[in-house]
Amino acid sequence: MSKKRQPAEPYRIKAVESIKLLSRHEREQRIVAANYNIFKIDAADIYIDLLTDSGTAAMSNRQWAALMLGDESYAGARSFRRFERTVQEIFGKKYVLPCHQGRVTENLLFSTILKKGQFVPNNTHFDTTKGNCLHKGGIPIDLPCKESLSDEPLPFKGNMDTERLEAFINEHGTESIAMVIMTITNNTIGGQPVSMANIREVSEICKKHGLLFYYDCARFAENAFFIKRDETGYSTRSIREIAAEMFSYCDGAMMSAKKDGLANMGGFIALDDEQLYRKLAELLILIEGFPTYGGLAGRDMDILAVGLEEVMDFDYLDFRIEQVAYFARKIKEAGMPIIEPAGGHAVFIDAGRLLDHIPANQFPGQGVAVELYTEGGIRVSEIGSLMFGGVDPETGKEQFASKELVRLALPRRVFTNSHLDFVAEVAGKIVARKDEICGYKIVHQSEFLRHFTCDLAKCQVETVKVKS
Ligand code: F0G
Repeated sequence: MSKKRQPAEPYRIKAVESIKLLSRHEREQRIVAANYNIFKIDAADIYIDLLTDSGTAAMSNRQWAALMLGDESYAGARSFRRFERTVQEIFGKKYVLPCHQGRVTENLLFSTILKKGQFVPNNTHFDTTKGNCLHKGGIPIDLPCKESLSDEPLPFKGNMDTERLEAFINEHGTESIAMVIMTITNNTIGGQPVSMANIREVSEICKKHGLLFYYDCARFAENAFFIKRDETGYSTRSIREIAAEMFSYCDGAMMSAKKDGLANMGGFIALDDEQLYRKLAELLILIEGFPTYGGLAGRDMDILAVGLEEVMDFDYLDFRIEQVAYFARKIKEAGMPIIEPAGGHAVFIDAGRLLDHIPANQFPGQGVAVELYTEGGIRVSEIGSLMFGGVDPETGKEQFASKELVRLALPRRVFTNSHLDFVAEVAGKIVARKDEICGYKIVHQSEFLRHFTCDLAKCQVETVKVKS
């Protein structure tokens, strides 16, 4: 884990938003009323919201100014042209389809490309990518590298296991595979980056077998920063140059621009294939909007055109990645087992290791999430078997996530280190009484993406195994 002193913010604060910590009694009432599902708590009742880094960035003065330039014309708006030019320059692709957020890009691509029963290998699917793939009759396959399971702080744990990819292709044949996806950075396994070498290797395998290769690149700039910092041969290259090389290896990219677009809303698909572009645009008109706005306001596209440039600023990224590393150190010092090294956008607590008395089917991650709220008004997300488990429709068997994680995601340019120190103090209090924390059971759930809307109840204390 980086021991570098965290640089000070390369910006100063021009507007502030009040936040308030409710009393403990109020917090306890709120979590019960939410049926222990933190998605159901009102933002007004949260003190420090680390639920997501998506759509939660603070915009810059340049972005607020760009907003006023928004051209709200239905077709061919100037805002679209500015946005399109920016995406073309950074991503090096000819066609740009705006969408209102990332999951629509998944819906569009899978609806257009995927045939029922086809596989989609990915280093690791994010929940909505997995959900959309399943919804269109596809079979999502996760092929994370072996190092991702190691407790050692190795670089590029987000990589894909290329041996398993080759073996998978050879076993199932190219006809059964719709496309290969690389998630950059790899959110689900700890926001871990992917190396250029791994991207190149996967690209070569896809080319050899004639398979489409797409990125899910919500956090491409953070990934490029890790490549610059940690991969041999890239230290003198600019983030823009590294991004250009990354995108030169793929056929296309889908991006939730709510992360590294530094915007509150937005997404897009960038690609070179004209025929596929036409098919996607046809569906885009049906489900999002005309291809020059795709569900976004003109001003949103102007905000993105500025945000996509700002996010590649080295000082911004250096501060960002070091702030996450600082936070990780604090949470670790508080006694929480975490995924190391720290990823690009969040600290991931290994709740399975912390609460080893709670079995996976009682969601230890949810145990930590509920405690962080009741103890300190902090909202985080479970990234474990509540999010990724459930009954396999084919086998009827209950599936579990490979790790029971809790994600403390850092919104971009929003919190200072004092906020993070407060969270670490709360974490320390939870560690001190970890054996008293119980598991949860689901009392109501939906078919897809159950964690968003499910209701939970505390498990009876007697079902919690008491450690000898
Ligand atoms: N892909 C990745 C890697 C993501 O992290 C997300 C969203 C999406 C796709 C979907 O994008 O939300 O714009 O529809 N991640 C958010 C998160 C929700 O909290 O990590 P979206």
